[in-house]
Amino acid sequence: MPEITNNPNLDSIRIAGTGSYVPEKILTNDDLAKRVDTSDEWIVSRTGIRERRIASDAEATSDLATNAARKAMEQAGVDAEELDLIIVATISPDTFFPATACYVQRNLGAKNAVCFDVSAACSGFLYAMSIARQFISTRSAHKALIIGAEKLSSMVNWEDRNTCVLFGDGAGAAVITRAEGGDSGVMSTYMGSDGNQTDILVVPGGGSACPITPSNAEQRLNTISMQGREVYRYAVTAMRGACDRVMADAKLKSEDISMVIPHQANLRIIDAIRERLDVPQEKMFVNLEKYGNTSAAAIAIALDEANRTGAIKRGDKIVLVAFGAGLTWAAAAIHW
Ligand code: ACO
Repeated sequence: MPEITNNPNLDSIRIAGTGSYVPEKILTNDDLAKRVDTSDEWIVSRTGIRERRIASDAEATSDLATNAARKAMEQAGVDAEELDLIIVATISPDTFFPATACYVQRNLGAKNAVCFDVSAACSGFLYAMSIARQFISTRSAHKALIIGAEKLSSMVNWEDRNTCVLFGDGAGAAVITRAEGGDSGVMSTYMGSDGNQTDILVVPGGGSACPITPSNAEQRLNTISMQGREVYRYAVTAMRGACDRVMADAKLKSEDISMVIPHQANLRIIDAIRERLDVPQEKMFVNLEKYGNTSAAAIAIALDEANRTGAIKRGDKIVLVAFGAGLTWAAAAIHW
């Protein structure tokens, strides 16, 4: 399977600050049960999700991203003009073009940054981290802002109970700089893809393969379509393999890990990864009950919550692991 790991001979990078933002509006499982044939009991027992956030009509993905970015920059003590790279991971961009990262650049006034988006679905934030790592560790860039941001409510079919109960809106961000001395920093990164499974999780319409017409809009081809069981099966295998890889590269054993921050899609998937890693439940960071699956934003929001609540502390060894449409998967081991 195609995959890219890190080059251990390059400079180390560190996460200098994190931030996140979720919209105010809460949509509960009971709210959803009024729209489609579902129940709080079904959603909680199959996924662990209890509620999710929904952005207002006035909020685009770049607005969520900008709010998260400001908090990460404040924590890192980095001004907008110091940034030389902004990467936004998203599958719900403001527009096909320009890139959502360019809207964020405008909002922040980050006039010295080069900006682009990454499309790797739920793995996007960790793809962005790997990319930023390449630029910073080779000294091509010095201060990077990576963001996972989604307004998935704009691409969900609200009449499809198979998918509408799963997703939510939000954004998370991190400022990445070179690690100056000490041993903290990103120890290893890994990413993989499998293009043979493009159709098990896809928005089939709206792109060049199937431009939007009144007829295919009526068929909801511009909304998320998912073969849940298949995705589940691949997710467990790929995420377990990704954890094994970054832990081996960073020379970490299960007992060294203080916290695993997995993609927040489904509690049962998280449990299956926990069993494989052989870590206790309290070492798996979970917040999906509040936000559902926010795709590229999920790990970024979870990382920020873990950071700000003290669930992860300086000196901890943590593993981040994700899986998404593409298929794509990715992981990172970090000495916090
Ligand atoms: N409420 C009630 N019943 C439902 C609902 C619902 N919201 N959704 C589906 N059902 C029904 C189905 O219609 C089916 O009924 P049937 O047996 O009469 O046909 C039954 O429940 C079982 O459906 P399954 O799909 O087999 O349910 P499963 O136990 O697999 O759970 C789920 C579905 C939660 C989607 C699970 O498969 C899953 O989490 N998959 C992985 C999703 C994921 O990880 N995505 C990550 C990537 S997302 C990204 O990249 C954007």
